[in-house]
Amino acid sequence: CETDKVQKYLEPFRLSLEKLQEVSVRLRKDMKRGLGKHTHHKAPVKMLPTFVRATPDGTEQGDFLALDLGGTNFRVLHVRISEEEKKVIKMDSQICAIPQEIMLGPGVQLFDHIAACLSEFLDSQNLKGQTLPLGFTFSFPCEQKEIDKSILIRWTKGFNCSGVEGEDVVKLLKEAIQRRGDYNIGSVAMVNDTVGTMMSCGYRDQSCEIGMIIGTGTNACYMEEMKNVKRVEGEDGRMCINTEWGGFGDDGALSDIHTQADKEVDKTSINPGVHIFEKMISGMYLGEIVRLVLLDLTKEKLLFKGEVSEALTTPGKFETKFISEIEEPDNGLENAKKILTELDLKWNLVDARVVRLVCDTISSRSARLCAAALATIAKRICDNRGLEHLKTTVGVDGTVYRKHPNFSDELQEVVHLLAPKCEIKFLVSEDGSGKGAAMVTAVAQRPATKEL
Ligand code: BG6
Ligand code: GLC
Repeated sequence: CETDKVQKYLEPFRLSLEKLQEVSVRLRKDMKRGLGKHTHHKAPVKMLPTFVRATPDGTEQGDFLALDLGGTNFRVLHVRISEEEKKVIKMDSQICAIPQEIMLGPGVQLFDHIAACLSEFLDSQNLKGQTLPLGFTFSFPCEQKEIDKSILIRWTKGFNCSGVEGEDVVKLLKEAIQRRGDYNIGSVAMVNDTVGTMMSCGYRDQSCEIGMIIGTGTNACYMEEMKNVKRVEGEDGRMCINTEWGGFGDDGALSDIHTQADKEVDKTSINPGVHIFEKMISGMYLGEIVRLVLLDLTKEKLLFKGEVSEALTTPGKFETKFISEIEEPDNGLENAKKILTELDLKWNLVDARVVRLVCDTISSRSARLCAAALATIAKRICDNRGLEHLKTTVGVDGTVYRKHPNFSDELQEVVHLLAPKCEIKFLVSEDGSGKGAAMVTAVAQRPATKEL
């Protein structure tokens, strides 16, 4: 019958625990390769040193500016860390739109835009006379030389500005501010959003030593033993490593689970061949995967009596947020009907149910793949420390994790099955990257550094 055919079609998207274990073993190897002194150049999982050597110890304080670029919104923030209140306080913040022509235009124009947004914010806060330190959350893979020297390896997600890859992002920001000449900033600390998220949770929970993002893109960082970080001098203590796990599979390591729809999503993206794992998981791509599956099922006459609509054949028209709406436990089916009508599709009740099944299959695959990757990191920390049992906390952010009705439940359940010896607590970070970037700046300024 028809439902059986749909189920059969969806089979390649269903990943068994055994398959996830295999994926985890492959990632474990790739992480090792990424950490190696001589193997990292070719490694798809980049394992980038962040120069963050300690999580907060509660003595940090002061006023900071923060920029948060690379997620859904570009934001400028003014953050206060109060030692007395043991709190990170967001004084104020502003979202600043980045038009698509800037996201894809010359780098100078992007940094001029960022500097202009910061100028406007400082005016509105009456902060122009002060020279505050600035934490810059820049959510792209960077080769960091120091905390304030960060070279963009390549753009990912929706950005592709010319003249930035291979350049120091701090320098580009400072030059843009100098071109304006209407304000100054103090020392700069560069952080990835995963690091910001880990650090902001670290103030609340000192065992937070993993940061994970499942939003527009996906990625995680964790505290690695310095002796394993071959590219940085020194053997003692730990350093936070930005895994850039989104690049897992870029060498074909995931070809056995890479479906036709995934290939199509990759091919039509602005960076084909890059960030294969991310493209199976994150918010920028999930809606598109669902659309392609629905289109195929319609062509197979398993949906909408075989009739497509213009919307269904248009890239981007099936938004990732529809998946969350369609999967809502109570109103999901009603939402599905509304969305299908808006997409000009002639649906019946069976169609609405099949669409729900497709959404569930694709989001569930995403959650399970994230679980496999997170379990790999947790097990690595456990092995590093020779522990039988690890208790740790993950700071998490991103629209997919926050907004999808059962993504976090499935992720947590599967991590537990894959890494039973690790007891993992999940903390959703609030204003994570902004506060976290301020925290990194503060920890960098802390007089006596507490090495973990
Ligand atoms: C935000 C963080 O809350 O989440 C950003 O402040 C981060 O730094 C973002 O990049 C990730 O989620 P999304 O869904 O906005 O990409
Ligand atoms: C992309 C970026 C990475 C970032 C992630 C989540 O994978 O390359 O740096 O952390 O998206 O925003």
